[in-house]
Amino acid sequence: MRIEEQKVLTALPGVGVDLKPGASLAEITYLGIGGTTDLLRLKRHESIPHVVKLLEAHGIPFKFLGGGSNLLVVDGELPWVAMQLAQADPDVVIEGNFATVDAAADLGRTVTLCAKRDLGGMEGLIGVPGTVGGALRMNAGAYGIQIGSYVREVKVYRGATRVIEILKGDQISFEYRHTSFAPDDMMLAVKLELPSKSFREILQGIRICNEKRRASQPLGQKSAGCIFKNPPGASAGRMIDELGLKGLSVGDARVSDRHANFFVNAGKASAKDMLTLIGDVRECVRKAYGFELENEVVVWNA
Ligand code: EPU
Repeated sequence: MRIEEQKVLTALPGVGVDLKPGASLAEITYLGIGGTTDLLRLKRHESIPHVVKLLEAHGIPFKFLGGGSNLLVVDGELPWVAMQLAQADPDVVIEGNFATVDAAADLGRTVTLCAKRDLGGMEGLIGVPGTVGGALRMNAGAYGIQIGSYVREVKVYRGATRVIEILKGDQISFEYRHTSFAPDDMMLAVKLELPSKSFREILQGIRICNEKRRASQPLGQKSAGCIFKNPPGASAGRMIDELGLKGLSVGDARVSDRHANFFVNAGKASAKDMLTLIGDVRECVRKAYGFELENEVVVWNA
């Protein structure tokens, strides 16, 4: 979608927005799939309510984009604009055992910066791609840890009330790949409380997780990580593998040969290819095991 209203175009810089017209979301998402739209880079948290008001007043629909690492976007000209936080500087501020982190900060870099200040706990998250905001919204986890365990405060723009709020950790529920945030809430910043550990010990933990990840996941390929959530007591990857579906393809969308819950874009896969593959695999698992697999990947349909 292109913003054509001159009034909006003129007002955007005043509310801290850099406009990237006709951005290709295929170039932003880790799956390398997605159509084009105007991308609004938000440089000031505090002006987000004004930006939203401006867009709503002109009937311009919008969606909040994180790092694009767990996202499947439809193809073509998209019927909404995308808003994304611009990089903050500094984006990680450490005081004692607390790290205050901007939502646009890279998760892996945050884990490393905290480690250098002898703050651990998040070793398992080192290889999870994307931003801290995205990890927070999904309660990202790996190797027995989830980011939610360390959250003490969240600064969030609330879609329902259109105001920025500071929530305490205990006002938010963090479950397996799910939080109590609404789809139209936008994560702005988080305060984490992390246990003290020596850098050397943290590094050791990071190395072990990296090795496990390298051995089991298709890291060099375009993917959105795991496509499905694991159903309680079962492993989506193992079931898909047991059904012999590794390598199954629709166009260039393909079930990874390395990890069956990773679907990769092996070339020029379209969103339709990927969605068809997701539907086909879900159907096979339902028939064979009786589990209705739920998407872990977030899908932006038109
Ligand atoms: N397995 C197979 N074949 C496969 C894949 C897995 O047999 O193709 C088996 C493994 O051998 C293992 C079991 O299934 O016995 C579980 O596999 P794995 O340890 O890889 O973990 P997972 O449950 O598939 C989860 C998370 C990952 C996270 C890893 C490591 C979900 C949906 N996935 O994967 O997170 O990195 O554990 O902690 O919760 C993601 O969220 O996108 C993601 C990749």
